[in-house]
Formats: sequence, C-alpha cells, structure tokens
Amino acid sequence: MTGNRTFTMIKPDAVENGHIGAILEKITAAGFKIVAMKYTQLSRRDAETFYAIHKERPFFGELVEFMTRGPIVAAILEKDNAVEDFRALIGATNPEQAAEGTIRKLYATSVAENAVHGADSDENAAIEGAFHFSGREIF
Ligand code: CMP
Repeated sequence: MTGNRTFTMIKPDAVENGHIGAILEKITAAGFKIVAMKYTQLSRRDAETFYAIHKERPFFGELVEFMTRGPIVAAILEKDNAVEDFRALIGATNPEQAAEGTIRKLYATSVAENAVHGADSDENAAIEGAFHFSGREIF
C-alpha cells in the first residue's frame, strides 16, 4: 500500500534565486495539500543528521555546506501516491536529465544545487517529516 504523505525541502539555491513562490505554486497546482510548512535554516548538525545516509559519499562535505548556507522551506505534503507523484513532479536529481516542466528542470542549476528535495520512500517521508515537525505543527 502506498502512503499519502511526502516530505520536501525548497533548498538554499532556490530560496536565494527567489523561487519559493513559483515552486509552491507548482506543488499546489499538482494537487498536493500542504499539511505542515516552515521557513528555517539547517545547522551543520541538522544537515549531517538528515543526510547521514550519504556520509560516505565524496560529495557529503559539499552537500552539508550547501544545505546550511541559507534558509530552506520544509514541508509535509498530502496527496494520493504522494512519494511517487512528487518525485515525478520534481524530476531527476540531475537537472540536465530532468523532464521538461519538472521543478528541477525549471529551477535547479546543477546536480548538487538541485532546488528541491523529495523523500524517496514512505518510510523516509515519515522519518524526515518527524525530523522537522512536531505533531502539533502538522495539520
Ligand atoms: P537529494 O536527492 O535531495 O538528496 C541528496 C543530495 O545530494 C542531492 O539531492 C543533491 O543535492 C546532492 N548530490 C547528489 N549527487 C551529487 C553529486 N554528484 N555531487 C554533489 N551533490 C550531489
């Protein structure tokens, strides 16, 4: 059975480039309901914890620097088949390989600075959502 919630972040590059409004518009136009949202900045410890799965990757240091350099928007989104449908909406990790019309094709600048995060499974969506939000911040 597939779940109906996913977790996203609008990353520092997209915030710096003024794309928060356009990205939220794409998300809601695609039928996702925002059930939790905050404008915040990750500490180094937050980013190292959130991305612990990537800690052996050569780009880990670069990833932590990038994700902590400015504010992000974190959100939990609700829709049938949320994880899969949201990954289709954002497109491939590398914007050069992302399909036309996807959020990364429109707003990402590189594989490292790729504008948005989308959880890759129902299990990770729940873990990542709980990392950012308490129960009383989810509506
Ligand atoms: P995301 O898939 O949201 O989570 C892991 C992140 O690591 C990914 O987005 C990119 O921001 C980053 N990333 C993935 N591959 C590379 C790479 N080859 N070089 C630098 N950063 C990367």
